[in-house]
Parts: sequence; C-alpha cells; structure tokens
Amino acid sequence: MSIKKIKENIYFVGAIDRDRKLFDELIPLPDGTSYNSYLIKGSEKIALLDSVDPTMYDTLTDNLKEAGAGRIDYIISHHAEQDHSGSLGELVRAYPQSVIVTNEKCKSFLMDLLSIPEEKFLIIKDRDTISLGDKTLQFIFTPWVHWPETMSTYLKEDKILFSCDFFGSHYATDELFVRDENKIYRAAKRYYAEIMMPFRTSIIKNLDIIKDLDIDIIAPSHGQLYDKPAFIIDAYKDWSSERVKNEVIIPYISMHGSTEKIVEYFSESLIEKGLTVRIFHLTDSDIGELAMALVDAAAVVIATPTVLTGPHPNIIYAAYLVKALRPKLKFISIIGSYGWGGRTVDILADMVSSLKAEIIEPVIIKGYPKEADFKMLDELAGKISNKYKEIAIED
Ligand code: FEO
Repeated sequence: MSIKKIKENIYFVGAIDRDRKLFDELIPLPDGTSYNSYLIKGSEKIALLDSVDPTMYDTLTDNLKEAGAGRIDYIISHHAEQDHSGSLGELVRAYPQSVIVTNEKCKSFLMDLLSIPEEKFLIIKDRDTISLGDKTLQFIFTPWVHWPETMSTYLKEDKILFSCDFFGSHYATDELFVRDENKIYRAAKRYYAEIMMPFRTSIIKNLDIIKDLDIDIIAPSHGQLYDKPAFIIDAYKDWSSERVKNEVIIPYISMHGSTEKIVEYFSESLIEKGLTVRIFHLTDSDIGELAMALVDAAAVVIATPTVLTGPHPNIIYAAYLVKALRPKLKFISIIGSYGWGGRTVDILADMVSSLKAEIIEPVIIKGYPKEADFKMLDELAGKISNKYKEIAIED
C-alpha cells in the first residue's frame, strides 16, 4: 500500500487491513477494513488527520515518509477509539514538534486510554478554525457518531468533510473513491447497523449539522471516500428515518424440529398476508447480516425452544443484540416451543422491553405444533399484517 493523492497536497496515508476478521472481538469483517489517515500540506503548516490501528503503525510511518512529511505540526484527533488513536503516542514521540488538536472530551479519553501527557494537546471548540496557510481546517462537533467526543473536520478551500466513523464502512480496497455504489451501499449499511444504529437520534441531529456545508468529498475513517456525497447522505437519511419496510425478521434456533416447524408455518402465513420474511438460523448466521436486516424492518419475531427453564442461549444473545442496537422496529413478538414449562416469554419480553416497539402477544407451543397451534400462528401473522398496514397508511 502506498499513499494516494486526493487533491493537490491532500493524501490518504492510512492503512488497508485485509486480514482482520473481527472488530471489537465481535463484529465480523467479511471485507476487511481500513484505518484512514489523511495528510494535508498547507503552505505554512502540515496536519495529519487521525492515525491508524497500532498494529499498522509502520504502514503509517512509511506512508508519511513517502508523502514527504518531514515534520507534522498538527495531529487532528477526531475520536479516541484506538483504531484511530492507538498510534498517537508513538507519533508524537516520532514527531516531537507536533501537537494533538482535539476537543476537551477527546483529550480526556486520550489521556486515560493512551497516557498522553496534557501538554501535548491543543484544545479546540466547536466551529474553531486552524490555518495551515493556504488551507483552513474547521472543526465541527458531531457527537455520538458513535462516542460522545466524536467530531469532524471541514477543509474549507477544498470542500472536504473528514467525518471519522460517521459515513464509514469496513471495506478494504486500494481504490480510493466509491465506484461500485451497490457494493458500498451494503458495506456502509452493515457498518451503520453495527456501529451507528443505536445513535439514530444523534445521527439525525448530525445530518442537520452538516446540511449547510458545501461538500465535494466525504472522507471517512474507514472504507472508501465519497466524491458523490449525496449517495451516502441520502442513505443515512433513509436508514435513520422513522420509515420501516414491510419486513419481518425471524431469528431462530430449533433443537429437535418443533420450533423449526413453527417458524416454517408462521413465515408462510406471513408471506400469504403480503409480508416479506427474513429468517436467520442463529447457529450459522453472520450477526452483521442480522444487524443489517434490523435497519429497516417493521417487526422481529424471536423463535426459540425452551432450554431448561428459558430461551436457548443463542436466542438470549440475539435478543441482547436487538436491544443494544436499538433498531426502529415497530413490533416484536415471540414464538417457540416448550416441553414442560419455563419462563421463556417473560425473560425475552423483559430483555426487549426498553425498545419503543409494541410487544404483540407471543405464541408458545407445547411440543410439536398441532392444528390449534397453527391457528394461533395464523392469528399472530394476521395481527402483524394488520398493524403494519396501519402504520404503512400513516407513512
Ligand atoms: Fe473506527 Fe469508533 O472507531
């Protein structure tokens, strides 16, 4: 990997990580990722925007040499998470004349996480500017995308918004700009689902904050850059809006076939009533795909057998994810089977109770499903269909 020129005196100097398979020891990375660091050479000062994951520090320093950065005056830190900040300690030692430019909150996180001494920081406020001579950096606070300290930089003369994780995607490629929008739409939606979705309200506010900027290029801290910014801004507007699609997501586990039969019958019933169904068998599903499906779905119906006295542990994991990701679901229900009893419904209903979605009366069946059970499943499918029609009319 070598440096890439974005515009005159503006370079990508980050690192492409094709081999990384998991982020946060949790999120699958089917397309790898990148840690985007940018070098801006002004007529008087030189700025580096973010660093890279510490595992790829050598790539960053090689790239800085290739870009002819004999010195760095300002290191802009948009976000304290270590995939962008983890090399800052080594960088300020390698470039002793540099100062880290960030907000007060980010400074405090960086001091806690990386033990960087306080005298290395230059603190800026929202909308402050720094001149590099012929180029001006303006700092725009965009909190909670996805930590409280996150901010962006707008390079005024070149109309580039450096947005950090906001608008990013885990996607490793040597191609600098988005050219295959379908591919990047999926990668960016996956990223939104896994990282940004819990902060939907903040995303709406931040979209409003940047709406009056004249932006030619959005340069995020993961994945490709957007030289047609409307593509990703419109996608974010859609994903973060209140609109839901005619989709029911069914994450399920079946141990001996009862729950599988219940899911099969129930999904056919939903489809007959005009709903789209997406089924995730949790023993072999990619949780990123499940998260993506949750971005626009109207309903989730969790399907579980009873293990001892409660839901299958994989179902607990899925329910916890649904709760943590806070999708804009309108309806939730639970279906499944049991042998002799248990608290499956209570446990799951309690887990998802903090979501704003309406919980529709669950259907838990004793043993293998029979005629009367199929009728109850049809009724549940009918309720979901009717309720979706009500909100679809309002929409
Ligand atoms: Fe890419 Fe929140 O760090």
